[in-house]
Amino acid sequence: MAFASIFCCGKCSDRKEQGKKQPTWRIFSLKELHAATNNFNYDNKLGEGGFGSVYWGQLWDGSQIAVKRLKVWSNKAEMEFAVEVEILARVRHKNLLSLRGYCAEGQERLIVYDYMPNLSLLSHLHGHHSAECLLDWKRRMNIAIGSAEGIAYLHHHATPHIIHRDIKASNVLLDSDFQAQVADFGFAKLIPDGATHVTTRVKGTLGYLAPEYAMLGKASESCDVFSFGILLLELASGKKPIEKLSTATKRIIVDWALPLFCERKLSELADPRLNGKFEEEELNRIIIVALVCTQNLPEKRPTMLEVVDLLKGESKEKLAELENDELFKSQKVADYNDVRPVAEDSYDSISEEKDLKHEVKEIGQDDS
Ligand SMILES: Nc1ncnc2c1ncn2[C@@H]1O[C@H](COP(=O)(O)OP(=O)(O)OP(=O)(O)O)[C@@H](O)[C@H]1O
Ligand SMILES: [Mg+2]
Repeated sequence: MAFASIFCCGKCSDRKEQGKKQPTWRIFSLKELHAATNNFNYDNKLGEGGFGSVYWGQLWDGSQIAVKRLKVWSNKAEMEFAVEVEILARVRHKNLLSLRGYCAEGQERLIVYDYMPNLSLLSHLHGHHSAECLLDWKRRMNIAIGSAEGIAYLHHHATPHIIHRDIKASNVLLDSDFQAQVADFGFAKLIPDGATHVTTRVKGTLGYLAPEYAMLGKASESCDVFSFGILLLELASGKKPIEKLSTATKRIIVDWALPLFCERKLSELADPRLNGKFEEEELNRIIIVALVCTQNLPEKRPTMLEVVDLLKGESKEKLAELENDELFKSQKVADYNDVRPVAEDSYDSISEEKDLKHEVKEIGQDDS
């Protein structure tokens, strides 16, 4: 079977090199997954995304799993499933959610992951766990660095290189130590050697899309860098990527954060739930990195390798240079807002294209 042959190419030994204690991947039977999830019971449902629903389950050995069950079976879904399976089978890194296995029986296509007990960043920032304030500053900083390292691995070390295309808070899962595990490579395509970008239909989630990707469908690593910048702002501030100010007005997080940073109002940028308990130097670093990542011009954005060094405080000179960039001169704020596509307009132009309708999902579609 096609899926089995994809899997047989996977190098399971890579897993050890990344220091992860996990069983190797295997094929699950539908019967076993039915038993584990109580027949895909509604009560076991963790949420729903572009592929279908994700269910919590427990195997006979007591281990907890998350099962992603494709909602529609079509040729397109089969291709996307194969892409995700192939990519996941190859990629192993401490900050990338690895695969436990899959099931392909009859019309059913399911992917099995380890269950992440602390769920996603989305659930802590805006969902079920947001009131518990479990994300103190140290954890946030670790998540920022860890998720950057996971994405940098996809961009620079995986062979061939991988563009994630759907970096967002629900795709950053948290393990029992609150370490980031970047999930969902379903949108990624393998980049052929030498190609600088692949033009394709726009996939991703509103609020995180780089302008050139949203408008021209031009996907490259720098689109992921843009999405990651949005995620950093969200992580530091606790705000959503797009905030509804009223029924008619929406504000994108960058347009809120940039003017505040130009005036160096750092404490206003920090999530109020931190109660002022944050490291100023680290917050400064996160905000500078986030804002340079979310520049309109892709060539002005850093690479993920640079992002990792900047976040770790290992590129102090570069950071100082960036801090003095024109971008952060307050007189530039007006110009910046002029060139940036207004959220409503640019997103309307996406939804008018029929092909994109199913690919672009509203933020907060599932806040669980
Ligand atoms: N291994 C896991 N452990 C715990 N929660 C998970 C796991 N995998 C997914 N989830 C959660 O289940 C929910 C649904 O996930 P799913 O990936 O289907 O949708 P999504 O992340 O919202 O969107 P997308 O389809 O773009 O990834 C999300 O809240 C996600 O964080
Ligand atoms: Mg997801």
